[in-house]
Amino acid sequence: MHSFDRVAETYESGRPAYPDRIFEALEPLAGALVLEGGAGTGIASRALIERGARLVAYDVGRAILLRARAASPGLRAVVADGGAMPFRDGQADLVCFAQAWHWIDERHRCEEAARVLRAGGRWAGWWSHARADGESWFDSSWDRVESACPGTDRGQRDIDWADGLRRSGLFAVDDRVTVRWTRHVSVEQWMLDENSKSYVAALSPEEHRQLVGALDDLVRARFPDGRMSVPYETWLWTAHKI
Ligand SMILES: C[S@@+](CC[C@H](N)C(=O)[O-])C[C@H]1O[C@@H](n2cnc3c(N)ncnc32)[C@H](O)[C@@H]1O
Repeated sequence: MHSFDRVAETYESGRPAYPDRIFEALEPLAGALVLEGGAGTGIASRALIERGARLVAYDVGRAILLRARAASPGLRAVVADGGAMPFRDGQADLVCFAQAWHWIDERHRCEEAARVLRAGGRWAGWWSHARADGESWFDSSWDRVESACPGTDRGQRDIDWADGLRRSGLFAVDDRVTVRWTRHVSVEQWMLDENSKSYVAALSPEEHRQLVGALDDLVRARFPDGRMSVPYETWLWTAHKI
């Protein structure tokens, strides 16, 4: 469990929205009861609601969830842990996690997701990552992150997050959907994004200053006009309760 309350103020200014293709893959959503775990500031919540989902957003972070409420005043939101949800058994059509499943206690998360889903209900989890590997500014940025943040490495972008669901025996996992897109972003917004990463936010003030300074130098040297185009991929896994 790790609340993002420390970065609640700036989180959304740095983070990109998710491609429409992700939400298209989750259809039908109109009228569906959707429990969205680790909803944060509600970036995905709003897209799901626009498609007609009856959504309940939950998150362990009260401050970050309040940002979601401020952006969508009618949003049904509850401070809760995805490892022990305050929801009844067998009700949800879909439980979903936008860059959040990995935060939930792996000893409980599959059983909890299966518990709240109706028979045949769906699980979905997706993650967006920059994939400019091979570009020197990007590889050097990762080199700096990996040396400053022990336990964090670029290979974590490639984890098969559905593996635990398969092993639980509770879900049938579908083929992964990969959406490739280009992110157009200012250097300032990119740096807000870097600052909102949990492994950056966790550094001591001095380590933080050094790493963020180095990352800022790298992107400004590569994108002197302040406008960045960065290849991205969003990976979506879906599964059905069996
Ligand atoms: C990377 S953020 C993703 C936020 C949002 N879904 C998005 O796409 O921008 C992860 C979120 O998971 C929340 N979180 C961490 N541990 C959690 C848990 N055990 N149960 C519910 N939410 C959790 C954090 O507070 C944070 O808001």
